[in-house]
Amino acid sequence: MLIRDAKLSDAAGIARVNVDTWYSTYEGILPEQQLALVTAPDRLRYAREVISAPNKGMVVAETENGKLVGFAAFGPERVGNLPYKGELYVIYVLKPFQRKGIGSKLMAAVRNRLHEAGINTLMVWTLHDNPYQRFYQSLGGAIVYTRTLEIEGFKTLERAYGWWDTLKMFGEEQYRNQML
Ligand SMILES: CC(C)(COP(=O)(O)OP(=O)(O)OC[C@H]1O[C@@H](n2cnc3c(N)ncnc32)[C@H](O)[C@@H]1OP(=O)(O)O)[C@@H](O)C(=O)NCCC(=O)NCCS
Repeated sequence: MLIRDAKLSDAAGIARVNVDTWYSTYEGILPEQQLALVTAPDRLRYAREVISAPNKGMVVAETENGKLVGFAAFGPERVGNLPYKGELYVIYVLKPFQRKGIGSKLMAAVRNRLHEAGINTLMVWTLHDNPYQRFYQSLGGAIVYTRTLEIEGFKTLERAYGWWDTLKMFGEEQYRNQML
């Protein structure tokens, strides 16, 4: 599995991973109309915007056959007045590839990219009902905020996980192994 920076030509593959994983994660949890708010054209635009932005980034996980199976997007914290400087905007790994360590490798790459930019604090917003929060907890993230968002008539409760020192996200030995 190769973890690398995303290129503009990856945007369509990233959008596919995003939409597939959104449905496999939230089908049966969110109402149908809310699920349908995430679409391939919208995610394609989003991927292109983040990849092109000078202060944001995306990393992808690619199989030996060149198939994109996961990605993570990151950049400056977006609320603006919180003490965390970096934000993980989104991380998705296709369901058949989950629990193989790919998400952790993407997180290590995000942490390393931000570290190179002088940023060692990180947070991520996740839906309150997200069934994968153990992932953030396993990396030492703690719940630091909650908020309610209203998007197109749907009230959504969100939680933020935070890392005050991302260099402690993995044990030292793991950190050395994951300098990607
Ligand atoms: C969350 C996600 C990115 C994790 O990626 P992954 O490749 O499956 O994660 P890893 O294999 O690196 O898991 C690392 C550790 O996190 C924990 N973990 C991950 N998924 C878990 C789950 N479903 N249940 C419990 N613990 C979990 C485990 O401790 C795991 O270590 P282990 O497998 O040795 O027990 C991936 O499952 C995903 O895309 N989920 C759906 C989308 C999503 O919820 N994204 C995050 C919100 S924006």
